Amino acid sequence: MTKPQIIQLPKFLDSRGNLSFVEQLNHIPFEIKRTYWIYDVPGGEARGGHAFRKNEEFIVALSGAFDVIVDDGSQKEKFTLNRSYYGLYVPSGLWREMKNFSTNSLALEFGSIHYDVNDYIREYDEFLKLKNNGEI
Ligand code: TYD
Repeated sequence: MTKPQIIQLPKFLDSRGNLSFVEQLNHIPFEIKRTYWIYDVPGGEARGGHAFRKNEEFIVALSGAFDVIVDDGSQKEKFTLNRSYYGLYVPSGLWREMKNFSTNSLALEFGSIHYDVNDYIREYDEFLKLKNNGEI
């Protein structure tokens, strides 16, 4: 998969409560090396203005809502995540920001590599340069 896309997850609706799940190399198109979550974000806050050289991501809004803006250097696309049975796949090499967190939202993220500070591109100008040179 080379484009960011929303993937609908299985859901079992039940009067006792609903259940959804994800499997690596199935709903998530990579092997999961890392899972982390973002919580207690003040309403309206933004995070994650950066790109990854290698890391691919899969993002789920387990609770609440937020927008993920994905930018390939020439076009931006906004995905609103507000249901826990949708995930957003984000390939590597794209600038992405998370915005408009609702109060009490909970973002669950799966990554394809272990945490590596050198995998981050934190300057937009550098991102554009690497993109234009075909390095990411
Ligand atoms: P960062 O990725 O910069 O957060 P965001 O992109 O949402 O603004 O991560 C914040 C801090 O957490 C940063 O100091 C690195 C640390 N961190 C880890 O140690 N391991 C991880 O897997 C992640 C995602 C972050």
